[in-house]
Amino acid sequence: MASPPRRLRRILLGACALVVTLITAIGAGVTWTWAGADVSTVGTTQFTQPLHIPPLAESTVDTAGTRTFALDMQTGTTAFEPGRDTETWGFNGSYLGPTLRAARGERVRVQVRNQLPEASTVHWHGMHLPAAMDGGPHQMVEPGASWTPEWTVAQPASTLWYHPHPHGATEEHVRRGLAGMFLIDDAPSAQLPLPNTYGVDDIPVIVQDMRLRGSRLDGAHAIFRDIGFLGDRTMVNGTLSPYQEVGDELVRLRLLNASTARIYTFAFDDVRPFAMIGSDGGLLERPATLNRIQLSPGERAEIVVRMRPGERTVLRSEKLEAGLDFWSSRFSGGDDRFDVLELRAAPTLRPSAALPETLVPPSIPDGADSVLQRRFDLTLAGINGERMDMGRIDTTVTRGTTETWVVHNIDGMPHNFHVHDVQFRVLDYDGAPPPPEQAGAKDTIFLPPNTAATLVLRFDGPADPNTPYMYHCHLLWHEDVGMMGQFAVVEPGQQATPLPGHAH
Ligand code: C2O
Ligand code: CU
Ligand code: CU
Repeated sequence: MASPPRRLRRILLGACALVVTLITAIGAGVTWTWAGADVSTVGTTQFTQPLHIPPLAESTVDTAGTRTFALDMQTGTTAFEPGRDTETWGFNGSYLGPTLRAARGERVRVQVRNQLPEASTVHWHGMHLPAAMDGGPHQMVEPGASWTPEWTVAQPASTLWYHPHPHGATEEHVRRGLAGMFLIDDAPSAQLPLPNTYGVDDIPVIVQDMRLRGSRLDGAHAIFRDIGFLGDRTMVNGTLSPYQEVGDELVRLRLLNASTARIYTFAFDDVRPFAMIGSDGGLLERPATLNRIQLSPGERAEIVVRMRPGERTVLRSEKLEAGLDFWSSRFSGGDDRFDVLELRAAPTLRPSAALPETLVPPSIPDGADSVLQRRFDLTLAGINGERMDMGRIDTTVTRGTTETWVVHNIDGMPHNFHVHDVQFRVLDYDGAPPPPEQAGAKDTIFLPPNTAATLVLRFDGPADPNTPYMYHCHLLWHEDVGMMGQFAVVEPGQQATPLPGHAH
């Protein structure tokens, strides 16, 4: 038998070996996770499938002039790859939904029917409308039930969109396929010589991450991915490996980031310049020449790209430049690259009118009449330290006033900030005047860690002290876990009180 000191030594040596083995194993695991955590489809995409263009939604106009659309939320199957059926959700179809289109000044009504196995909502992202029509978490539609909001379109021509907003399940409902575009037209934009033939030289580009596991859509969050669901490939309008044939010299792309967490940095493979003509809330004052544009979830940009006869060019999503450290960059998908969409120009192209030098006058407040400043500190744990509570109104604003909101990401991971009902001006972004891509009307703004933005918002819709609007991070899993707050618009002196029964 070994003497006590020797036995102790052997035990200690054994323990050391065990610790070393464990550390090595953990290290190898982390390295493996790290190395496997970036994805790229650049250069390997075959572009075998013609881009699906969501149909324009049919509508009827009654004698009073109200334009009525019908949207059925339904389950179905989609063949993302030939011969492989995947269970998906969609509006009036199996995946995504038709493009709704209405003009400024029109009265619109949407008959929403929920044929899903669970309750959901339909929110009109970017739309200025009464809170009770907004389709946020207070306007739940039970399975088998319907909901018919109506409002008058009172905002400039723009690329808006719609998607579900059930509290706690938004990421899943959007990822399964519930989203669509809502285009607003107006007289000033119709006067401009811009490409405007839908699906021909004016193309909806709804970009989403996706991951297939067998024939199933896989929505799992990978390890260390606090950002939420990230896919291993992208699709446009529900089409994998898409190409689009174009026959005009100038092509307008209405880019929508409808992914649930991915921040895309769009650029063409030859880094060609393009003109940005519109942002979330409509056309810019003048086109801005860029060769890349970053869009976080929920954001839109309208760009116009010049094509040469017979050429092909690929719209890509490049690595994210957001000042992230290597760890959060890798696990927020910042190192990933994607081939998004190939444009194939016909051998001869129809000539397009030159882009105008100026577009439309600004529609957003300049802040000169701002009545107060508020501060919103963003972390995954909540906004200003509070998690979303359906029964609590966090912010009360007075109808007809302008406010300044300073939104600060004080977290170690990327977030963004979306406000319902309004289009705001970015007065200051990270201590400087906003770059052109943030200078127009915005409803969603990307905020990398330790970045602040000063926003000016004007609340001129109808007051409703009982029904709040939302503001939240549009990384949808963050929204689901509580990175959301509620604001109500009231008449001067009125108190906001959520309707009884709305509290969960
Ligand atoms: Cu696009 Cu509150 O959402
Ligand atoms: Cu919204
Ligand atoms: Cu977030």
